[in-house]
Amino acid sequence: MKIAVVGTGYVGLVSGTCFADSGNEVTCVDIDEQKIEQLNQGQIPIYEPGLSELVLRCVAQGRLHFTTNLPHSIKQADLVYLAVGTPQSEDGSADLTALKIVVDQIAPHLPDEAIVVIKSTVPVGTNEMAYQRLKELTGRECHVASNPEFLKEGAAINDFMYPDRVVVGVRTKENAEVLRELYAPFLRTEHPFLVMSPESAELTKYVANALLSTKISFINEMANICEKMNGDINDVRRGIGHDQRIGFAFLFPGCGYGGSCFPKDVRALASIARNVGVEPRIMDSVDDVNNRQKHVLIEKIETHFDGQLSGKTIAVWGLAFKPRTDDIREAPALVLIDRMLEQGAQVQVHDPEATANVRDIYGSRIKYATQPNDALEGADALAICTEWSEFRHPNFPEMRRRLNTPLVFDGRNLYDPEQMQEEGFTYHSIGRRTVSPAT
Ligand SMILES: NC(=O)c1ccc[n+]([C@@H]2O[C@H](COP(=O)([O-])OP(=O)(O)OC[C@H]3O[C@@H](n4cnc5c(N)ncnc54)[C@H](O)[C@@H]3O)[C@@H](O)[C@H]2O)c1
Repeated sequence: MKIAVVGTGYVGLVSGTCFADSGNEVTCVDIDEQKIEQLNQGQIPIYEPGLSELVLRCVAQGRLHFTTNLPHSIKQADLVYLAVGTPQSEDGSADLTALKIVVDQIAPHLPDEAIVVIKSTVPVGTNEMAYQRLKELTGRECHVASNPEFLKEGAAINDFMYPDRVVVGVRTKENAEVLRELYAPFLRTEHPFLVMSPESAELTKYVANALLSTKISFINEMANICEKMNGDINDVRRGIGHDQRIGFAFLFPGCGYGGSCFPKDVRALASIARNVGVEPRIMDSVDDVNNRQKHVLIEKIETHFDGQLSGKTIAVWGLAFKPRTDDIREAPALVLIDRMLEQGAQVQVHDPEATANVRDIYGSRIKYATQPNDALEGADALAICTEWSEFRHPNFPEMRRRLNTPLVFDGRNLYDPEQMQEEGFTYHSIGRRTVSPAT
């Protein structure tokens, strides 16, 4: 099939590349000229494991193209995928400005039989809105479908190639069959292809993210209770996770969730609920708990230093909102850095992939280290905000040598408190007892 993907961000680039890899002819379109130029020079603008190799292979085989020329790519397409951003508006709802612009732009060039497929995460009713708008602009009944994306940054290629399920929201059986054929190469392991109405498909995406965010905020709240009661959240987590009704997924306590999806999607679902007269109590609480959780590590640091952070140096390991990505949108590390700077502390950071994005925000206000241990040099404490694998087995004696004080605030519970005590650290984590070196 010939596919145009409009919006070449995390989702558009991954989807377009995977569709091209399975034999389709794909053109990825974006308004960002620099991004398209980079891609045409073989440079991948985001870090996503495995993506670069796949893009280069598909380009070399002539099945993947990048352009800013929207009309040209639409005219030849069987499928027009929309994957532009739908960020949060001021009132919490999803901002559909980019999507609406693209719908207007594609209308004059859309072939009669082409299906417009909305992959962006959009509020219920957006498919219908796009359908009505295209009808108004073209004077005919256009095909519009919903195909929400469930990939995780950091594992996006694998998630796209081997999805747990594919959800499509369609008005006609014919549209469902075209999309079933498109996805057939990705569903050879018999994972389901679920056909429903566009409204249900639009909601499915929000409900999935809402439940995952709820699990995180739930375990974070339990961790905070555990800590006050001398319990250990890790033991409690294991105690509940073996219950098959509960399981372990997304029940890891930490310093809050971030990223481009969970925070905005939880707020957007709350906004959708309010608009239809349903009080979104759970969603409001999930968001509130998460915003507070981003301050838990900060409060531990402030308490330890009696609020006197001026002149202290804090090292930060992990800036991306999660490992294996360079995405720092709503990352807990940024909240921590802001607060440390506000209080007059010096900050020196390390992240395997996200440093360039963080540099764009803070410039020379903080120091950047290319190696984890270099960030520790002369620091009064280390704060860990992302669970990159390379932080899991550090050289503890070397860490002690580099730090001014053997003091660690771990927002991701990477280490065993007993071991940290033996290694001579004062060690704070989430939902577990704080340990100090044995005297
Ligand atoms: N990032 C994720 O992990 C993820 C996962 C599932 C779903 N989603 C959803 O997918 C959508 C896209 O997310 P993303 O993270 O890829 O966003 P992104 O910000 O990385 O990419 C969006 C791209 O759209 C481009 N764009 C904006 N206006 C355009 C226009 N008029 N014409 C052409 N291109 C235009 C931007 O330049 C940008 O490159 C969002 O709705 C998001 O909620 C994201």
